[in-house]
Amino acid sequence: MSNINQVNREAAAKAEAEARNIYTVEHPVRPEDHWQRTGHRGGVLWLTGLSGAGKSTVALGVEHTLHRLGYQAFVLDGDNVRAGLNSDLGFSPEDRHENLRRIAEVAALFAQSGSLVVTAFISPYQADRDQARAIIGEGFHEVHVHAGLDVCEARDPKGLYKRARAGLIPNFTGISAPFEAPANPDLIIDTSKYDIGESIHATIDHIETHFTLNQSLVRVA
Ligand SMILES: Nc1ncnc2c1ncn2[C@@H]1O[C@H](COP(=O)(O)OP(=O)(O)OP(=O)(O)O)[C@@H](O)[C@H]1O
Ligand SMILES: [Mg+2]
Repeated sequence: MSNINQVNREAAAKAEAEARNIYTVEHPVRPEDHWQRTGHRGGVLWLTGLSGAGKSTVALGVEHTLHRLGYQAFVLDGDNVRAGLNSDLGFSPEDRHENLRRIAEVAALFAQSGSLVVTAFISPYQADRDQARAIIGEGFHEVHVHAGLDVCEARDPKGLYKRARAGLIPNFTGISAPFEAPANPDLIIDTSKYDIGESIHATIDHIETHFTLNQSLVRVA
């Protein structure tokens, strides 16, 4: 999203809030001030992919590596969020949509505070990922953690495919519900070709290229 679209969206959200007597405050510490302190931009790597593709494995490995490298990083992962913040939501289409909307809003706040957020949700619909991009803005990167259905089903780390094939889980992505592959992802991690270490490394490379401050970013900030 361009800066102009982002500014327009923020202005529209502010006007809409004010119509409801809600007046948002400006933070004295700007995102760029956080960046100067941490040495990296805030942002969101939005991992999307089939169950078993490796989103959680990669996300948690990336968080661990970034922490060791001195980055401020945090993972938002499916069941952890559903256990707390979104414990009132189920798996109807409306609730799945609301689940991802709230996650995108939370991720945007983390990013605003200077963190690099790695989200690990199947998020099978392009419309939901586009909504996340609109909420988060410039620092949003869509990452397709890819492995074919056959590979994911053979891995079946939670036994979910087996249960879905037995008809015990309705609307299971890849079996009885669609997965819309990103048309234009910022990064593809093919976990059927890369091992876990290589998958994490490729993601770290992407982060170092796009989020680590260099001289020109320091001058802009
Ligand atoms: N290159 C790889 N990257 C990530 N995981 C891999 C890779 N190769 C094999 N695996 C294995 O694939 C499985 C991926 O499971 P994981 O829970 O990370 O998937 P997920 O995408 O988070 O699924 P879910 O949507 O159900 O949470 C793990 O058992 C992991 O060890
Ligand atoms: Mg997972």
